[in-house]
Amino acid sequence: MKQETTTTRTPPTGTPHIAAAPGDFAPLVLMPGDPRRARHIAETFLKDARQVTDVRGILGYTGTHLGVPMSVLASGMGIPSMSIYATELFRHYDVRRIVRVGTAGAIPLSVSLRDVIIASAAHTDSSVSGLLVGGVTLSLTPSYRLLRAAADAARWEEPVHIGPVFSSDHFYLDRPGVFDALAGRGTLAVEMEAAGLYAVAGAEGGEALAVLTASDHVRTGEALSAEERETCFDRAVRIAAAALLA
Ligand code: ADE
Repeated sequence: MKQETTTTRTPPTGTPHIAAAPGDFAPLVLMPGDPRRARHIAETFLKDARQVTDVRGILGYTGTHLGVPMSVLASGMGIPSMSIYATELFRHYDVRRIVRVGTAGAIPLSVSLRDVIIASAAHTDSSVSGLLVGGVTLSLTPSYRLLRAAADAARWEEPVHIGPVFSSDHFYLDRPGVFDALAGRGTLAVEMEAAGLYAVAGAEGGEALAVLTASDHVRTGEALSAEERETCFDRAVRIAAAALLA
């Protein structure tokens, strides 16, 4: 059951990890991993954006997108970091929808660098899927409403793939064969946060989705430059923002 905590109980100075006042965040939030990407999104997709938090360099902004209040907050890297920020947003700032906009490593050769991947499910090697309901391995899935809206918006932003991703706790995963096995089960990409976001949204009664851009390829070894990683994801952000507004 959703916790009985609302913005009214949020301390005026914020939560342990977010130094924003109640009401500083819009109900709709874009969530990149990288704080500099958060700033780039605020500068390019939000109108009248103002910075609302910077604890530990995790930057957050609120403005409007097509006239609707929208925020952007970095998640940091990995499921634990994502889980902290997503929980505090849903639980203490009355956020309703979070869409992660991040990068991922493409797994099958049918996915190329710069392609967009909409995560219709998140497999994980994290304990998160087993921790929440005793004896049950939860399926970690996005909000169907957000997924459907993103799939609709994707028609104008091809190439886009929709399918499961793998949220790993290990960037430098050293388990030969794991990507072959995952590819054999239709898994499109590896990243490190979607499963945490989907688990938190399920627990907190929020809606979530991950829209990813392939920044490297686990088969071919190709990778975008650090500079291009920062700016190549505009198509993913357009899809994510359209889903938030649906
Ligand atoms: N994010 C972007 N590329 C990744 C990869 N290869 N593994 C995990 N997370 C990623």
